[in-house]
Amino acid sequence: MEPASCCHPATTGRFRRCVVTGAAGFIGSQLCQQLARLGWSVIGVDAFTDSYDPAEKRLRAAQLSQLAGVSLIQGDLVELDLMPIMDGVEVVFHLAGRAGVRASFSLEDRYIHDNVTATELVVSASRAAGVRRLVYASSSSVYGDGEAPFREDAHPAPISPYGRSKLEAERCCLAAATQGLETVALRYFTVYGPGQRPDMGLRIFAEAALRRQPITLLGDGSQRRDFTYVTDIVAATIAAADAPVSGIAINVGGGSSVSLLDVLDLLRSFTAHELDVNIEPFARGDVRVTAADLSRARSLLGFVAEVPLEVGFEREVAWVRDRLEATEARSA
Ligand SMILES: NC(=O)c1ccc[n+]([C@@H]2O[C@H](COP(=O)([O-])OP(=O)(O)OC[C@H]3O[C@@H](n4cnc5c(N)ncnc54)[C@H](O)[C@@H]3O)[C@@H](O)[C@H]2O)c1
Repeated sequence: MEPASCCHPATTGRFRRCVVTGAAGFIGSQLCQQLARLGWSVIGVDAFTDSYDPAEKRLRAAQLSQLAGVSLIQGDLVELDLMPIMDGVEVVFHLAGRAGVRASFSLEDRYIHDNVTATELVVSASRAAGVRRLVYASSSSVYGDGEAPFREDAHPAPISPYGRSKLEAERCCLAAATQGLETVALRYFTVYGPGQRPDMGLRIFAEAALRRQPITLLGDGSQRRDFTYVTDIVAATIAAADAPVSGIAINVGGGSSVSLLDVLDLLRSFTAHELDVNIEPFARGDVRVTAADLSRARSLLGFVAEVPLEVGFEREVAWVRDRLEATEARSA
């Protein structure tokens, strides 16, 4: 056993127990890996929902199950008995949810179930079990088409069922701060990197470009996003476990707002060939600009985004290329 003095809890999780919901997701799986590296004891929960191919989630879960200190529970947060899962847990990282703006217009009930109802149950079980802190994965979608850069004290005005469900869940988490559960809601801005969800723009663009297929651009490409590399998001999420605040929302963004046309220019340079781009109308719920004001993240989490888009996107393109080549090799 290491002497207690060598291990500040903010820098190592040794002996600390946490729950990660959405553990088989894009971000949740990378959060679990990093927590395990830092010595946390991690209980991951995931339902392998059909939001995209569950095989991707099962593969991530299989990789996680190889790690020392990680155990996984399969089940829907709305149906599971959460009390035994929360027993002796210090921090809950609540990332489970149904992400994606476009699908939310036709699947509103699923979004309420996975984002609102599941969060209400996670919050009440966390309180009842005496969990110290809950860190919630909220979204820049709560701002809607607000004035950029978005500040956390701006009036939220989501323009999609997804954004509304994240705001409702966030409010439920933050309200619990007055009832004995420390809570922080992190408003993630467009997260990308290797392992990204298959419904997200950067991965869709990279897959089409590498397959030499046409890229469909919804809108004229002038829309701007504050792209945030996944390891930066993971670092901020872990920092939020020990931040000296509770009951507030904090933006986590990459720090620069980049247009989709600039993203396509980067993709051209990584693939070294021309892209076949088809322009279609803007998608419903698609905001024109996202940009995070990062003052709170800097002062309360010590957050500095380390991976710029041109570095992180090249890594994602390399990951997509490896995946496509492995699939081709299997079918040859
Ligand atoms: N990826 C982004 O750019 C982004 C941006 C803002 C906010 N977020 C939020 O971050 C979180 C993680 O996003 P992601 O991109 O990793 O998504 P993801 O879909 O890859 O991961 C979410 C995981 O939650 C699980 N899940 C959903 N509902 C569940 C339920 N009822 N019970 C148990 N498990 C359930 C899913 O099976 C999935 O594995 C989500 O809450 C999302 O809203 C993501």
